Amino acid sequence: MKYATRSAVALVVSGVMSTFALAEGLRERVLRDAALDAGLLPANQLSVEQSEDLVNVGKLLFESRLLSFNNDTACASCHLDRFGSTDGLPNAIGTEGEGFGSARVLNGGDIVPRNVLPFWGRGGVGFEVFFWDGKVDGASGRLVSQFGANAPSLDPLVVAVHLPPAEIGEMVIDRRDTEELQTEDVETAKRLYTELTERIQLDPILGQKVANARNRALEDLAFIDVAEAIAAFIRFNFRVKDTKFHQFVFSDTKLTDREIEGGLLFYGRAGCSRCHNGPYFTDFDFHAIPFPQVGFGRNGFGVDYGRFNVTLDEADRYGFRTPPLYNVTQTGPYSHSGSIANLSDAIRVHIDPLFFVEPKNMDGNDRIEFYERLKIWSGSPLNGVVASDSEIDAIAEFLGTLSYESDVSVKFVD
Ligand code: HEC
Ligand code: HEC
Repeated sequence: MKYATRSAVALVVSGVMSTFALAEGLRERVLRDAALDAGLLPANQLSVEQSEDLVNVGKLLFESRLLSFNNDTACASCHLDRFGSTDGLPNAIGTEGEGFGSARVLNGGDIVPRNVLPFWGRGGVGFEVFFWDGKVDGASGRLVSQFGANAPSLDPLVVAVHLPPAEIGEMVIDRRDTEELQTEDVETAKRLYTELTERIQLDPILGQKVANARNRALEDLAFIDVAEAIAAFIRFNFRVKDTKFHQFVFSDTKLTDREIEGGLLFYGRAGCSRCHNGPYFTDFDFHAIPFPQVGFGRNGFGVDYGRFNVTLDEADRYGFRTPPLYNVTQTGPYSHSGSIANLSDAIRVHIDPLFFVEPKNMDGNDRIEFYERLKIWSGSPLNGVVASDSEIDAIAEFLGTLSYESDVSVKFVD
C-alpha cells in the first residue's frame, strides 16, 4: 500500500527535525528519516473519534458470553490483556474451552486452526484489511467479505466483528443440537444474529445500554448495533499511542545503542520495512514466509493455504497478511500457525527458514508443502539477507520500542 502523504509529511517533519539534528549523530538521523520515509505517522493522526457510551457498552459486550451460541465463550476468552489482546497459545481454543492461556489446552475445547491476532491499531485511519488471509478487505474502496453484496456495513472493522460469533468452533459449537447452524453461510449467520440480538435485548443491563448508546428503542435493536459497539471499543481501546519509537522520531527521546542498531537493520540491510511499513508496520499485502506449519491448519492437518482461501488464485497460496508489529513483544507465539514461541526466532525464520526444519520428522506431504513455500520465498527480498544472532536480537530490541498500553483492562465475566 502506498501512503500518498508520505513524502509531504517527511518534508514537514524533517524541517522541524533539523533544529535538534545537529545535537545528534548520523545514525539517529538516518533512522529517523528512514522511519518517516517508510510512512510512520504520529499516533494522533491514526485515531478515529468514538462515542464514549458506545465504547463503554462495547467493552461489556466484548466480555460477555451471551455472544456465543451456547453461552460459553466471550471475545475476551481469546483476546486477553495478559497476552497483548491474544491468548498466548499457538492455535486458539474456542467453544467448550475452559480457563485462560495454557490452562485452556488442559481442558480441551474446539481448536480454531489459526493464531489469535491482537487488536493494536485495528480500525484506525487506513487500517482496512482484517484477518490473516484478509477475508474482510476494504482497501480497494470496495468492501470484500464473505457477505458478498449483503455486507452489514461499509466499515471493514464492523464487518470483521460480525464473523467470530458465526464461526464454528470459535463461538458456535460444532456438535449437539446446533446442526441447523452448522453451515457458515449468510442465511445461517443472519438467524444466529437475530438470536444473539434477542438475548442482548433480554439482558437486564446490556440491552438498554446498547439501545441508549445507539439512540434506539430497545425493541428496535439489531445485531449491527452490537457490532458497532464492539468495533467502537476495539477502535478506541487499542488505538495507536505514541511509543518510545514515535517519541524518538517526532520529539527527541533517546533510544539505546542496541535499539538504534536494530532499527537501522530493520529499515536497512535486513529489509524488514519492505513489507512491515506504513504507520502500522504492515503493507496490508500478502506474502509467503516459510514459518513452520505445526498442528492444525485451515486446509487440513499441517496445511494452510492462507490468502488462497479467499481468492482461490493459485498464486496466492501460502500468503498471509503482513502482521502489524505494535506490542509484538507481548503477542507470542508468532505467525498464522503460532509455531514460533520466541521473537528473535520469528525474525530468524524470515531469512533462514531451514533453521527450524527437521526433515526427518516431516512426512512426504509436509516436505512438498515446504518446498512450495520455499520456492515462493526464494523470490522475495529476504532471500540472501544475512544477520548474526546478535543483530537479530538487536532487531528484537528495536521492536520492543513499538510498545504502548491500552486504556482499560478486559475481564471475562460470567
Ligand atoms: C476462540 C478464540 C476467539 C474468540 C472467542 C474470538 N476471537 Fe477474534 N480472533 C481469533 C483468531 C484465531 C483470529 C485470527 C483468525 C484468522 O485471521 O483467521 C482472530 C481475529 C480477530 C480479528 C481480526 C484482527 C486483525 O488483525 O485482522 C478481529 C477484529 C477479532 N478477532 C474480533 C473478535 C471479536 C469481536 C470477538 C467476539 C465477538 C472475537 N474476536 C472472538 C480468535 C478468537
Ligand atoms: C516479504 C515481506 C516481509 C518481509 C520483508 C518481512 N516480513 Fe515479517 N512477516 C511477513 C509476513 C507475511 C508474516 C506472517 C507470515 C505467517 O504468519 O505465515 C510476518 C511475520 C512477522 C513476525 C511475526 C508477527 C506475529 O504477530 O506473528 C515478526 C515479528 C516479523 N514478521 C518481523 C519481521 C522482521 C524483523 C523482518 C526483517 C528481518 C521482517 N519481518 C521482514 C512479511 C514480511
